[in-house]
Amino acid sequence: MHTLFPWVAQASHVPLTFVSGAGSWLTAEEGKTYLDFSSQLMVTNLGHQHPHVLAGIAAQLQTLSFVQPAHLTPIREKLGERLSRIASGVGDGQGDLGKVFFTTGGAEAIENAIKMARMVTGRQKILTRYRAYHGATTGALTLSGDARRHAIAGSEMPGVIRVEDPYCYRCPWGQTFPTCDRLCISHIERIIDFEGPTSIAAIVMEGASGSSGCIPYPPDYWPALRRLADANGIVLISDEVMSGFCRTGSWFAVHQTGVQPDMIVMAKGLTCGTVPMGAVWVSEQTATFFEDKPLQAGLTYGAHPLGCAAAMACLETYVVEAINARVQRLGPLLRQALHAGLGGHPAVGDIRGKGFLLCIELVKPGTQEPLFSRQMTADERALQQRLAAAFLAAGLIVFMRLHYVFVAPPLVISEADMAHGVSRLVRGICEGLG
Ligand SMILES: Cc1ncc(COP(=O)(O)O)c(C=O)c1O
Repeated sequence: MHTLFPWVAQASHVPLTFVSGAGSWLTAEEGKTYLDFSSQLMVTNLGHQHPHVLAGIAAQLQTLSFVQPAHLTPIREKLGERLSRIASGVGDGQGDLGKVFFTTGGAEAIENAIKMARMVTGRQKILTRYRAYHGATTGALTLSGDARRHAIAGSEMPGVIRVEDPYCYRCPWGQTFPTCDRLCISHIERIIDFEGPTSIAAIVMEGASGSSGCIPYPPDYWPALRRLADANGIVLISDEVMSGFCRTGSWFAVHQTGVQPDMIVMAKGLTCGTVPMGAVWVSEQTATFFEDKPLQAGLTYGAHPLGCAAAMACLETYVVEAINARVQRLGPLLRQALHAGLGGHPAVGDIRGKGFLLCIELVKPGTQEPLFSRQMTADERALQQRLAAAFLAAGLIVFMRLHYVFVAPPLVISEADMAHGVSRLVRGICEGLG
């Protein structure tokens, strides 16, 4: 009665009340269990209540639960080094590791990444995509080209420029991948030129597209961004808040393209939601810039000891349980199962994504037109609600946005639960859409 819920008109929102969780399952107040098929918001990569993660947090809680972020803790020191090795792509060898700045979530990490990029370059403009989500604070929401930013129209952060997406399912230039001319790349080159290359501080892209619709980048897209950034002194930032920590089968999705960005933004799977935490990894070059200039950034709860303990335990678990290998093996099977169950459905336009970050694009039967328009008519809203209700009736929690249904289970889900989830999802779509 006395809390506000995000993104909805409050009167229409009927929340489920959960009382416990275990692995890929959640139990609601009335005792019904639900399979968590989107890891909440693609957060619980290691499922709910992972014992090693809980033990790590509990141990830290017993010794030191808080110091302010100017102080150091042993767990912060250890985590900083481990994350720097992962993010810099150096592995366990020697090299320029860079440094990590800890925040309390993804949007704050984005805000601090662009702040640092602006300080380092002395430039102001940030280039992003239209179909992208980077968080709900003013700067991060402005970077998010998608319609959620319209809520702050008129008070957006200045200096943001946007490009069209490489949306191959409905290519803005009417071409077909892979025989196209990659107009999605030459378009960015032109915009950088028009805007003035020396005015652009950073390019920010999701490592792999997430809630924007899992729109896959052509394989030469990230390498082209790297080339453009290098040629023009622009900081290249990969937002791995959703795509990081094994979700697509590697620590960070961008590394699968062979590209090393200058900054990596992370959250979600960093602590699997057990303690709110985000981080920005910066390259050695950026870290060196702040050796003799003050880093004008800080958060009371930055580098929180409980967050650091949770993150360290998650990193250990990703390795011990060989989660990347698991996602590489099971991701294609999950996708195949979705194709087998839904490929012939007239309202399923596309099934795409990588690893355990998959999206089903719903369309008006027999067309490529999105099933729900941006303005959402009353009929469309009713259909969307019927679909959501059908998933819940089938005991499945799935994240939906616009005409997208996301399939992103915990990376530890059993194969039996995965098959169960797919069959429930198929049933939900067939019953929900009639
Ligand atoms: C790619 C991406 N960046 C940033 C964010 C914002 O993270 P947070 O909600 O922790 O602020 C999200 C959230 O979903 C995201 O998907």
